[in-house]
Amino acid sequence: MVAHRTQLRSLNSDWEDDMAETPTQPSGPDLAQGVALADLSDGGMLAGHVGDEEVVVARVGNEVFAIAAHCSHYHGPLAEGLVVGDTVRCPWHHACFSLRTGEAVRAPALSSIDCWSVEQRDGKVFVKDKRATRPAPRPRPGASPDRVVIVGGGAAGFAAAEMLRRQDYKGSIVMLSSDEALPVDRPNLSKDYLAGTAPEEWIPLRGDDFYAANAIELRLKTGVGSIDPRGRQVALSDGTTLAYDRLLLATGAEPVRLQFPGANQPNVHTLRSLADSRAIIAGAAAARRAVVIGASFIGLEVAASLRTRNIEVHVVAPEKRPMERILGAKMGDFVRALHEEHGVVFHLEDTVAALDGTRVTLKSGGVLEAQLVVMGVGVRPRLELAERAGLPLDRGLTVDAYLQTSAPEIFAAGDIARWPDPHSGQRIRVEHWVVAERQGQTAALNMLGVREKFDAVPFFWSQHYDIPINYVGHAENWDELVVEGDIAGKDCLVRYKVGGRTLAAASIYRDVATLQAEVAMEREMAAR
Ligand SMILES: Cc1cc2nc3c(=O)[nH]c(=O)nc-3n(C[C@H](O)[C@H](O)[C@H](O)COP(=O)(O)OP(=O)(O)OC[C@H]3O[C@@H](n4cnc5c(N)ncnc54)[C@H](O)[C@@H]3O)c2cc1C
Ligand code: FES
Repeated sequence: MVAHRTQLRSLNSDWEDDMAETPTQPSGPDLAQGVALADLSDGGMLAGHVGDEEVVVARVGNEVFAIAAHCSHYHGPLAEGLVVGDTVRCPWHHACFSLRTGEAVRAPALSSIDCWSVEQRDGKVFVKDKRATRPAPRPRPGASPDRVVIVGGGAAGFAAAEMLRRQDYKGSIVMLSSDEALPVDRPNLSKDYLAGTAPEEWIPLRGDDFYAANAIELRLKTGVGSIDPRGRQVALSDGTTLAYDRLLLATGAEPVRLQFPGANQPNVHTLRSLADSRAIIAGAAAARRAVVIGASFIGLEVAASLRTRNIEVHVVAPEKRPMERILGAKMGDFVRALHEEHGVVFHLEDTVAALDGTRVTLKSGGVLEAQLVVMGVGVRPRLELAERAGLPLDRGLTVDAYLQTSAPEIFAAGDIARWPDPHSGQRIRVEHWVVAERQGQTAALNMLGVREKFDAVPFFWSQHYDIPINYVGHAENWDELVVEGDIAGKDCLVRYKVGGRTLAAASIYRDVATLQAEVAMEREMAAR
């Protein structure tokens, strides 16, 4: 069984630092002593070691590359991923690394990995010394803008700032965030951090020093009140204005708050920020029982984390099956059974009618005593700024394939952006971490004039106890659902098809098949 995928590491320190107290013996062959080329098929990988460092060799045609064995996101085992061209994709959350330079060319990994030089002799492959590599910035026509302003200190905003500096952009970057915390690993806030199995120092995407070292002026607790697209400036909550040449809007989304009598009591929480997660943890300390309202991803991840804290959890939701709309009935039944095995009690086809202190009254008439209530009933994109600036909205902020809004200097990325998805042929808006980061990266390139279309296949993951669910593609509807493997056996890939074409695939522990489904969707689009 695969290790728990989010528990493994911090994003802002070296894996070696995290593991310093638990040294492991490198396993597999000593790659410095050589392995037979014939043992590596084209596209094949072999994990071994050089000295005490874990290294993977990968063959692409007649070339062989040597890279670090683990992903710089959560330490996923790259040898269990997929070689595509001269890159390798991580099996866990689909980060992609260049085999030539080690660059993290696709989020969620944002740090490069080490590379080694390789010599081929007498039908054998020898891994030699570690190579110093530096990815070359992308060619860009014309002059770069002097001032980039990013509104939003989340997934998209952070990835954009990081990419601007990775591209050797020398101008000013100001990142404005209404949040009080540094940009954080938001997915962890409902998973291991909330469960108490990941320490708080793992949560910032990078420490303070990163921003100083990269001349990124991060202004926390700074809201942007309005944008003047003609004057190219933003007005800040402190009354000052800030001029820009390029502006990225990455304001994300905010949790929906249901309104019922008692809904504003202090024991009722939503979850978006680190402060929200901390508040739930504080509430959990004195709680014996929690009611979670909502049976989708956030609600059920919260349920799982609270169960890890040994709190009794009741989930109240209007649907018949958890996650049926996104994953289908069979996966929905599996998710329900999984949570029930861990002691969660469901109250489906029901809602909360009122809360009075610790007394939760359901619409069906039932009453539950609960000291803690968490609402996970969806989010609303934060569009006020865009709306006031007169930018076109369509259940999100409308952008073109380059993530550019109707104002040429203003780009948008992440949960607010509705873009033309070339795979589904629809304009879509999704709320996925990896999509937000990749859009931030593409927007950064385009703010520098690179002109790259955003054409990544959407990807998200969710984690319930030790079970990861990975999803590639985008299917709002399907006319056929094909199950490969065994859902109950936690070993499956489910395809969501329309007219025989796979629009999306969800999987449990079928990582390579999921990566292959992603590549098939990319190739299908390229062939059109
Ligand atoms: C608890 C939790 C768990 C999740 N788990 C997963 C997961 O497992 N997998 C997955 O794919 N996705 C997950 N998601 C969704 C994912 O986190 C989002 O899709 C992603 O964060 C969106 O990135 P973003 O940059 O668009 O917005 P955000 O990350 O929300 O960042 C928005 C930023 O904008 C700032 N802001 C907003 N308005 C203003 C303003 N007017 N002025 C200044 N700053 C402003 C906010 O303070 C914030 O810093 C999860 C979300 C949550 C809340
Ligand atoms: S561990 Fe590699 S992408 Fe997450």
